[in-house]
Amino acid sequence: MSYPYQITSLEQYHRDYQKSVDNPQDFWGSVAENFLWRKKWDKVLEWNFTEPKVEWFKGGKLNITENCIDRYLPTMGDKPAIIWEPNNPEDRVRIVTYNRLHKRVCQFAQVLKNNGVKKGDRVCIYMGMVPELAYAVLGCARIGAIHSVIFGGFSAQSIADRLEDAQAAYIVTCDGAYRGNKDIPLKSVIDDALIGNKTVKRVIVYTRTRTPVSMIKGRDVWWEDEMEYAETQVEKDGVVSFPSEEMDAEDPLFILYTSGSTGKPKGVVHTVGGYMVWTNYTFVNVFQYQPGQIHFCTADIGWITGHSYIVYGPLSAGATSLMFEGVPTWPDAGRFWDIVEKHKVDILYTAPTAIRSLMGFGTAPLQGKNLSSLKKLGTVGEPINEEAWHWYDEHIGKKQCPIVDTWWQTETGGTLISNLAGVTPAIPSWASLPMPGVQPLLVDEKGNEITEKDEHGMLKGNLCIKAPWPGILRTTYGDHERCRTNYFATYPGLYFTGDGALKDDQGNYRITGRVDDVLNVSGHRIGTAEVENAINMHAGVVESAVVGYPHDVKGQGIYAYVIFSGHHGDDASRRQDILQTVSRVIGPIAKPDKIQFVNGLPKTRSGKIMRRILRKIAEGEVSNLGDTSTLLDPGVVDEIKNGKL
Ligand code: WTA
Repeated sequence: MSYPYQITSLEQYHRDYQKSVDNPQDFWGSVAENFLWRKKWDKVLEWNFTEPKVEWFKGGKLNITENCIDRYLPTMGDKPAIIWEPNNPEDRVRIVTYNRLHKRVCQFAQVLKNNGVKKGDRVCIYMGMVPELAYAVLGCARIGAIHSVIFGGFSAQSIADRLEDAQAAYIVTCDGAYRGNKDIPLKSVIDDALIGNKTVKRVIVYTRTRTPVSMIKGRDVWWEDEMEYAETQVEKDGVVSFPSEEMDAEDPLFILYTSGSTGKPKGVVHTVGGYMVWTNYTFVNVFQYQPGQIHFCTADIGWITGHSYIVYGPLSAGATSLMFEGVPTWPDAGRFWDIVEKHKVDILYTAPTAIRSLMGFGTAPLQGKNLSSLKKLGTVGEPINEEAWHWYDEHIGKKQCPIVDTWWQTETGGTLISNLAGVTPAIPSWASLPMPGVQPLLVDEKGNEITEKDEHGMLKGNLCIKAPWPGILRTTYGDHERCRTNYFATYPGLYFTGDGALKDDQGNYRITGRVDDVLNVSGHRIGTAEVENAINMHAGVVESAVVGYPHDVKGQGIYAYVIFSGHHGDDASRRQDILQTVSRVIGPIAKPDKIQFVNGLPKTRSGKIMRRILRKIAEGEVSNLGDTSTLLDPGVVDEIKNGKL
């Protein structure tokens, strides 16, 4: 097997890039020829960023699971599709061949059908990192149901909000999930989320931890029972089949909720055809995947990175994807390196926050670990600082492995800016060059293109993209206007990323971080407004303001300024109560690192909180707060400065 669209030299990169910009229709049409279509598309691309409307391969008919599984059965049926490494290193590894994956996905598609799920229905998936999570995702795709995976760190309230927004009537979950020495009771969180819910008809529960669960008659069923019965339906005389639903290229494949600068999370919608082509194309090119290599992406499938580079990208390329249930530091900080050695991993793709955290343990956990199978390394999710980049290069890659710094977002489906491993140059802490089909543009606050270099000879501005690539989001579920105002209205005619960036003379990009009110904590997106809303739910809280501050391991920490009234407890217990509230409302991932109680917040005369000042104080830059004369009460600033944590 080979990938005719794999870029193998710097010259070819420039050539392909040019072609993709000059003639996107031809370029992406010829890439798409390498997939399995039941019917070819009528038109490669139609778009405008005003509505916005983006359609790729419109009229094309396909099923993504045939591209991820069936087409590889004749030649690679007994090759591993998924290698599963359990949380506890002493437990049994599971190797799921393409044949086995086919059987399980067919079975689960049948289970969904038996339970009344139809094309277009939304299925919420709340599971730990077990292979069954991949079967569930692909089973949905096989029958054309829209999956909405929710990360296991979100609370019952967050799940309830997402269920309602997506009008999901079906849930797939586990009794519990193992994460390091913790055992997270997923089903019981689902039960809390379902109190008062009237739309959910069925909950399918996979047994992982044997945590006691309550199974409600008529609503809850066991995965194992359902799968056993479905097996008798999909397997006849040793032949497994479950006809996959014929989908239009522009039918939705999934919804994934993500945080923005305002209000509640948005349901980003990706469609079948474009997302498939984009995740596959970027996987094959960025990582320079070669058949037979083992790809280890350490993300959770609850995030876009897991969707695109554990499931759809690798499997659609016939790759072997390593799926890990645990955490990098349990039973000890050598866990990743043991996995690399044990499975002879070729490609390791992880987050800067994980690298920084492991760096903190020094090189002792690396002693005696054989990492010689590694050929390529990658990072994703947040800017990587040079120190972490060099540590990764030296101690993990032994200076033999190209490192790709992949910049992208939930909304982009796959990587937009990255070097291609060993093909285009790597520059520490620079995402570097755009993928073919991606046309970035830096603009100022008014949307004018930046043309003047700064004192370091760089262009610096807000990062936008001029034209669609196949993996761009199509809408936000149930509210297209929200999609328009969030991404396409700030700078009319452009997709606005929310990130700031630098550009050098060679056309390389360095992402500097979010320029909106979105935080990036350990590579996870969290909106400041969301955290404030959660804090404000606490009965004693009058008002709060949340900002980010630099954090050695997490990249950004969450700093909350809180005005508290009432006499209940002391500061320490109030802090605990607020943390508990945030955990309940959003989930433990959104808990502030610091909570400072204040008597007032710096506000303009029109009542707007001056976050710029709060951010500077949280960052420790108290000497240079800029102009505070427009504040309603400049006195509060001194008080806040003096109370800084
Ligand atoms: C940030 C994760 C710098 C960025 C795939 C973006 C990065 C947000 C990088 C999206 C990178 C992601 N360098 N920053 N290589 N990759 N980001 O939706 O701020 O969880 O807007 O998608 O992460 O986060 P999301």
